[in-house]
Amino acid sequence: MTELAVEATGLTKYFDSFTAVDHVNLKVPTGCIYGVLGPNGAGKTTSLRMTLGIIDPDEGISRLLGGHKPQSVRHRIGYLPEERGLYPGMKAREAIAFMGALRGLDWREGRRRAGIFMTELGLERVIDEKIRKMSKGMAQMVQLIGSIVHAPDLIVLDEPFSGLDPVNQERLEMLVRRERDRGATILFSTHVMAHAERLCDRIVIIARSQHRFEGTVDEARALLPMQVRYTPRDNDDAVARLLPEDAERKGEAWHFAIEEADVEPLLGRITASGHGVAGLSIARPALHDAFVHIVRQVDASFAAMPEGDAVEEVVA
Ligand SMILES: Nc1ncnc2c1ncn2[C@@H]1O[C@H](COP(=O)(O)OP(=O)(O)O)[C@@H](O)[C@H]1O
Ligand SMILES: [Mg+2]
Repeated sequence: MTELAVEATGLTKYFDSFTAVDHVNLKVPTGCIYGVLGPNGAGKTTSLRMTLGIIDPDEGISRLLGGHKPQSVRHRIGYLPEERGLYPGMKAREAIAFMGALRGLDWREGRRRAGIFMTELGLERVIDEKIRKMSKGMAQMVQLIGSIVHAPDLIVLDEPFSGLDPVNQERLEMLVRRERDRGATILFSTHVMAHAERLCDRIVIIARSQHRFEGTVDEARALLPMQVRYTPRDNDDAVARLLPEDAERKGEAWHFAIEEADVEPLLGRITASGHGVAGLSIARPALHDAFVHIVRQVDASFAAMPEGDAVEEVVA
């Protein structure tokens, strides 16, 4: 069995009568890139804070790096909080070394590593620039490097991509992969699916305070049927009979969804019919689609709640 870098069970947090996080589990295998996905306000930040022991859960328990209490393995953890902040008067290199020193890294070694990181990421131009003179995105990159400069075993990044331009987003993706290749475990939250789709070995989707899905990106995408676009060479009236009832014609192309098991029979029908193929694409929906599907289902179940119950919940 793989050792778990994060084993948080039943994490629950109440803010007055509001349940911000409701029995969320986070089980992150060592060496994996793990995404915590969810819409704004879902409870991601609160879950991460409880996981790291920054706030105490009202219920549940978090163990890190093979069963340790979060506080006892502080120096082996790197954390980029959602609220960013560096001392504006510090230069990038000093800010990175300073953050490393807070987690037990020798200051001179921190300065040395800062130079390596900044150069590798193509940011060496700003290494002696003061934070206050930097763009927000650039300062965020510096803070990111500062949060991993001590080579932590577990890296937790709360919305690390937000506020970065596409070039820095790409740099960050590279950095995450490199840290994983070094042997670190990376846990990050996002509401932008594209990064998660490219990076994550596993994901959890949190919506309305509860976890709604856990698994691989491919497993999430497999929740929805395949999307087909078919353009016959011979687009006569008989084509519709080969296709599912809800197939929609857009110009010369037909759009419809089918289950994976129905793909081959469909291809057989098309071939046998002699309508030919001028164009055909069969694709799994993107993670984005699976995410929207799950979140909408959750929202719909809330909307369907009788009004009395909803009121009771607020008042209770
Ligand atoms: N300290 C707090 N006091 C009261 N409500 C809070 C506090 N922190 C978070 N919340 C509420 O808890 C919910 C979840 O917040 P958060 O964990 O920040 O969500 P996310 O990171 O997924 O956007 C939100 O509705 C938020 O307003
Ligand atoms: Mg958040």
